[in-house]
Amino acid sequence: MGYVPAEDRCDRMIYRRCGASGLKLPVVSLGLWHNFGHDTPHETKQAICRTAFDQGITHFDLANNYGPPPGSAEEAFGGILKTDFHGLRDELIISSKAGYLMWGGPYGEWGSRKHLIASCDQSLKRLGLDYVDIFYSHRFDPDTPLEETMQALDYIVRSGRALYVGLSSYNSEKTRQAVAILKDLGTPCLIHQPSYNILNRWIETDGLKETLADLGIGSIAFTPLAQGILTRKYLNGIPQGSRASQGKSLDPAVITEGALNSVRALDAMAQARGQTLAQMAIAWVLRHGGITTALIGASRPEQVVDCCGAISNLDFSDAELAQINQIAEQKDVNLWARSAQLD
Ligand SMILES: NC(=O)c1ccc[n+]([C@@H]2O[C@H](COP(=O)([O-])OP(=O)(O)OC[C@H]3O[C@@H](n4cnc5c(N)ncnc54)[C@H](OP(=O)(O)O)[C@@H]3O)[C@@H](O)[C@H]2O)c1
Repeated sequence: MGYVPAEDRCDRMIYRRCGASGLKLPVVSLGLWHNFGHDTPHETKQAICRTAFDQGITHFDLANNYGPPPGSAEEAFGGILKTDFHGLRDELIISSKAGYLMWGGPYGEWGSRKHLIASCDQSLKRLGLDYVDIFYSHRFDPDTPLEETMQALDYIVRSGRALYVGLSSYNSEKTRQAVAILKDLGTPCLIHQPSYNILNRWIETDGLKETLADLGIGSIAFTPLAQGILTRKYLNGIPQGSRASQGKSLDPAVITEGALNSVRALDAMAQARGQTLAQMAIAWVLRHGGITTALIGASRPEQVVDCCGAISNLDFSDAELAQINQIAEQKDVNLWARSAQLD
């Protein structure tokens, strides 16, 4: 039977304005980095997307290289757009990115005009779309003039390939420079996509969080669950099929006994708040409105439902925040720091 979206879906979600723009985003967004490649059954992908939309998630985040193999997540989502979300395009915010390695030779990665525009065209083809809502420079390129990368983003909007543009993992200083160039070109930067969670606070120490607030730019925090560490998943070892068991982006070596002791203490706090640990971790990212939306991933529809439950309590007392700071020593789980540090 065809998919019929839940009628009350928008009442189940909170939508926040993205910086000073006119666009509102759900406070929980879904990313398709993992679990949307050829290694996951189509039914699972479909069920995750349907559940997300039913929970009021209107924002789906992709990139050229999501898979495996690279490109397959966009193809899978393109299929779901046709079969399940047909007629719903105007209710969806779909993003893609270019910058990481996508094809061989000198034009298959980084920030040249050639790479960004060719990659955007490939993404649109895989997605079966005329335009994406947000197109990102996926990482800062130290070897390409920032003007060239921003001019490419500006052109992508002016040529109708995207409605808005964003930056991912640029540090505070490069963000200020990029935003100024985009402003001069007449295509304002909508949003920044950095990694951010209880265990990874580089956007606070770097000053990026303050910069975004200052410039009126929205923010979408990726890996709010530290790829699953900030859930109960790893408390009794590494379960089969979990991300840490797959030899991909989550190195099991970072799940140390010390890290797990912190996770146990955070879990006790979450229980006292009447939340699951995943919900508290997402609420922490969203606290005080400082971040527009938390960008989660999921391997099962039930995880999406659990994560969306975070919105029932997004407030923290000063005492709770201090306790979280005390428990959560910084852990080495920031795989994206390199992009932010390049200058
Ligand atoms: N811009 C960039 O450079 C960049 C980089 C990375 C990611 N991203 C974006 O951010 C998105 C999210 O990244 P992420 O997947 O690492 O985020 P995450 O939300 O920190 O981790 C997701 C993983 O946590 C586990 N999980 C999720 N909900 C759970 C729940 N309620 N209970 C227990 N476990 C739960 C699942 O692990 P299992 O799979 O083990 O079940 C899931 O795959 C990506 O899809 C992508 O769109 C962007």
